[in-house]
Parts: sequence; C-alpha cells; structure tokens
Amino acid sequence: MCGILGYIGSQQATPLLLEGLRRLEYRGYDSVGISTMSDNGNLNVLKTAGRVDTLTDLIGNHLPISNMGIGHSRWATHGPATRDNAHPHVGGNCDLALVHNGVIENHDELRTRLESLGFYFKSGTDSEVIAHLIHWHITQRTKLQSNACGELQEQDEFRSRIQGVRRALKELRGSYALVIMFRDQPDYLLAVCNGSPLIIGTTDDGHLIGSDKHAISHSAHQFTRLEDQELAVIRSDSVQILQKTNPGLASREILWKEEDTHSLSFDDSCTYSHRTLQEIHEQPLTLKHMLSNIEDDFHSFPIEFLNNLPKRILILACGTSYHAGLFGKYIIEAISGIPVEVEYASEFRYRESPYQEGTLLLTISQSGETADTLGALREFKQRKQPTVAICNVPGSTLTEESDATIFLNVGLENGVAATKSYTADCAILSRLAMLWGYQKDVNVSRLSLLINDFHTIPQMISNVLDAKESIKNVAHTYEDAKRFLFIGRGFDYPTALEGALKLKELSYISAEGYAAGELKHGPLALVDDQTITVALATPGRTYEKVLSNLEEIRCRGGQILAIGVEDDQRLKRVANNVIYVQKVDEFLQPLVNIIPLQLFAFYLALARGCDVDRPRNLAKSVTVE
Ligand code: G6P
Repeated sequence: MCGILGYIGSQQATPLLLEGLRRLEYRGYDSVGISTMSDNGNLNVLKTAGRVDTLTDLIGNHLPISNMGIGHSRWATHGPATRDNAHPHVGGNCDLALVHNGVIENHDELRTRLESLGFYFKSGTDSEVIAHLIHWHITQRTKLQSNACGELQEQDEFRSRIQGVRRALKELRGSYALVIMFRDQPDYLLAVCNGSPLIIGTTDDGHLIGSDKHAISHSAHQFTRLEDQELAVIRSDSVQILQKTNPGLASREILWKEEDTHSLSFDDSCTYSHRTLQEIHEQPLTLKHMLSNIEDDFHSFPIEFLNNLPKRILILACGTSYHAGLFGKYIIEAISGIPVEVEYASEFRYRESPYQEGTLLLTISQSGETADTLGALREFKQRKQPTVAICNVPGSTLTEESDATIFLNVGLENGVAATKSYTADCAILSRLAMLWGYQKDVNVSRLSLLINDFHTIPQMISNVLDAKESIKNVAHTYEDAKRFLFIGRGFDYPTALEGALKLKELSYISAEGYAAGELKHGPLALVDDQTITVALATPGRTYEKVLSNLEEIRCRGGQILAIGVEDDQRLKRVANNVIYVQKVDEFLQPLVNIIPLQLFAFYLALARGCDVDRPRNLAKSVTVE
C-alpha cells in the first residue's frame, strides 16, 4: 500500500528516492511520483500511473538535480490510478508539495470549503485537500503575524508556518503520514504522522524519511520513529522533533537506534520465475531453521510474558495471519487446554468485547503495519493486559507497540500473497501450544511424539515441492473452472480457508472455504458439475465425516479434488483427482497440507495469465482501514 519517502542532504535526491520507491514496491501500488527542488527555486513534480520503471523511463537522462526531495508509491483509495491522482500533490500555487499515506475521512467537507475559498483541485484524492488546507492555514497565520509585526523575521516566519501546519492538521479526521516540502524553504522537510508510521534515518550526509525501515536502509544506518501527532523538522544536518504537548517550538530528545539485531535480510535476488514460487520453496528451510533446538530451547520467545500461564488467549489478526491464528486456536486448546478466541482485528476494534481477567493478547501480522491489527492492539492495550506480537518485520509498528515480539525470521516476504509467513506462524503457534502444554504438564507423552513429528515436516514439504509438476498438471485441468469450494474439518478447517484465499487472491476465481460439516447447511446448493470441491481428507478424527461429505457431493454431480495420503483407496474412489502428501500427526498435518494448495493456486493463476506476485487490487502492507 502507499509508501512515503523523503531525503535532504548533500547527495542527489532522485536516485535515492527511486531506490527507496523500489524497496517499497513489495507493499503493492499502482502509481508513483517524486518532487524535487529545481534550480530556479520551483518545485519540480514528476509522476505517473504505473510502476517505478515507468517513472524511471519518464525521467530518462534528465535526472532532476536537487539535494532534497519527496517520493511516493500510491495504492488508490480515493480516485483511480491516474497521473493526476498520483502523489506528490501541490498546495496553493505550487507553493508546497506533499506525499500522504492514510485516509482523510472528512475530505469532502474540507474540499467544499476550500473550493469556496477559490482553490482548484486537479485530483479526486483526499491528499490534495491536505496540501491546499495546509497552504491556506500557513497563509492565514503569516498574514496575521505580519499585520501585527510588519516584515517577519526568519524565526517568526518559521513559527507561523508551524502554527499553520498544526492548525490544518487539527482539521483532519482520519490517518496520515505526511512529508512536506516548501518552495521557499530549501533547508528543511516537515514530517508528521497520525496512525500511519514514519521512520527517520540518518545517512552519512543527511537524512532520509520512509514509511518503513526497508525503504531507507539502503543508505540510513540509524533510525528513529516519529510518534503520532509529532512534527519533525528535518534538515540535512539536524532533526528536530517538536513536542506534541507543547504548542510552541520546544523539541524532544531523540533516541537513535542502530539496525535491529533481528534485521530482515533484504535480498532482492529471485532465482525462481516468480517471488511467490521462491517463497513457497523456501518453506522447508524456514521451518528447519525454526525447529532447530525445539526440545528445550524457547530462548527466542519472550518467556517473561508467556511463563505466567494465561487464563485465556485472544488472537487478533487479518487475512492469512487470521487463518494461522485459527489454526493456533485448535492446537493451543488441544495441547494445553487454555481457551483461545480468534477474531478479525477489524471486527474487534469496533465492538464491545467484555474484559476478562488474565487474558494474553497475541497479534499476528507478517508486516507489522496492518492498520486494523494495530488499531485492535491499541484498543486492547487500554485493558492493561500483556500483548505479544508474532511478526516478521523487525522495527515495524506492531513490534514497537507490543510488550514483546516473537519473530518469524523467514526473511523478506515479497509476494503479495502470504505463503512462508503462514507456515512459520503455524509453527510458532504449535511451539507455544507445546510450551504451555509442558507448563501445565498435560499430554506430556503426546508432546514428545509431536516434537518428533515436527522434525519430519520440512522433508515432507520438500517432497510435496518435488512433485510440483504433477500439481501443475492437475491445476491446468481446472484452468476454466468458475467456482471452487474448499472444505476441511478440525485442524484442517483453517487450511481450507487459507487454500481458498490463496486461490482467489492469485487466480481471481471465486473460491470459498468452509468447515466440511457446514456443507449441508447451505453451500451444498452450489454443487453442480461446474463446481470443484477441494477437500482436505488426510487421516484424523474427522476423516470419516469428510469422506461422507464427499460422497454427498459426488452423488450430486460435483467434481472433487482431494488432498490425501498415498494408498488411500477409499479417497481414490470418491475423488476425481487426488494430490498426495505424507501423513504426520493430525495436529501438525495442516503445515504439510497447505503446500499443495499454495502450488495449486500458483499454477492455476499462472495458467490464467495472472500477475501472481502482484495480484490486482491487493497490497502486501495494508496501512489503511
Ligand atoms: C493483506 C495481504 C494478505 C495478508 C493480510 C494481513 O491483505 O494481501 O496476504 O494476509 O494483509 O497482513 P499482515 O501483514 O498483517 O499479516
């Protein structure tokens, strides 16, 4: 989703901004732009619908020469992905340029007022409203000041500019991260945020600002995070963060941090045809890494928050992370007996959920920047109960705002559709279940068997990957399918939801995930010869039940693709196609079963000509509600 950049220093800004924009590409976007200061003291804005490469082509050999600039990658929220709607947006008569991430909820009423004041809008965005609003307030403050004191001194001018910005911000309802440059102020950039992150970094010769650390870590080596409602004045040789509680120009002390020890390696190399395929293939390795020392080593866990046995666990997450959370519920409850509730973060934050003593909050987010998950965390924190994040990105907002974090350590996940982070989430949740199981001294004999089985999973995943050609062939037979139903039961109910999500994200085919037992309560009406049912039918407590469901589908003319274990003759008889996996403990089987579904979605999407790494309309990092 939208990404922001800013640079001021002694280097050329444009190459640094372009590199930063490339680093933000993984978040998902549809247009890009930069603004720099031109020789004649004007703001130079270059923007386009499309990718960073399109912008680079547009720039060609005419690299804007400037030591300061701002950049933006946009994921459309207000107005389609056109050049006019792309950022930066200018305010007044090109007096300022700004880039914005977030959503301004009262943009309509502000726009109407500004139009009545004579402002002309070139775009349909909420962001252009901010640009004009800030310009208007600054002009008002400056007029007032000069009426009172005549010609303004530099400091007075600066003061009224800051006051103007603050007044404009007071009028905004919603979330924002903004970096602003002024035509007549070539010495500084202003940055401000509210509900949308901004990181400031020091480089050898200046400062970079970005929506996340990755965007600026190519040149920055020390980082600090701007807090909500703080205003930063960023010059090439200094950063001043104005205290949010003080309406004047008093600044707060800044704590600069070096790169996190959990640093995500930003390896841009892709040795597969697609990043998603590469990330699917990385799973045996990421899990192997996680499973080393599993028996007695929970040292990577924030034990101080976990040892104190929670009475209840609440898991909040979105998308794929939510599905991992649902798997967590099954395994934690089965192994430790601790009650677990799982909820979409977007639902939790706006409902009255009763306070319960002794609750531990687990949030799950690959990016650590999902606005809904952050909102839910902030809501929960008012209860003064412990919060632990399961997250892949060190230094992300979620990790900064939670009491503790368990890192996935799977390296950068670049494909928009989550794959390796899902299995890593499930593995971490299984480990937590085991930790609490040991502490409660329940099912101890089962626990040691489980740990043995855990070690076999990376190899089982490798075996599925080795059979990818046959999965590809199966996928090709469904190239023209119109509708899929994914069904699973018990531990594989979350797998069914995740399998359906992968298919719709990547191939744009309608796919629904259901608990197999729910089939007869509605979805069965969808079954006909055009509906493909993908069934998770590996051995376990509900295997027989799933098989009966498949019989019901078959006798109604539905087609069945099943995930099952080799030499399952009964399954072979009922299903049209079977993809084989190896058997492992029922509790852990979902970690293996999801792999063929990831590959199936990948190959089916590829056959349909979809952009698998960057599916339409989706973003990797969803920073708006
Ligand atoms: C977006 C992505 C999904 C992801 C979800 C939650 O919708 O497209 O793949 O599962 O966000 O993201 P998170 O970073 O919080 O895990």
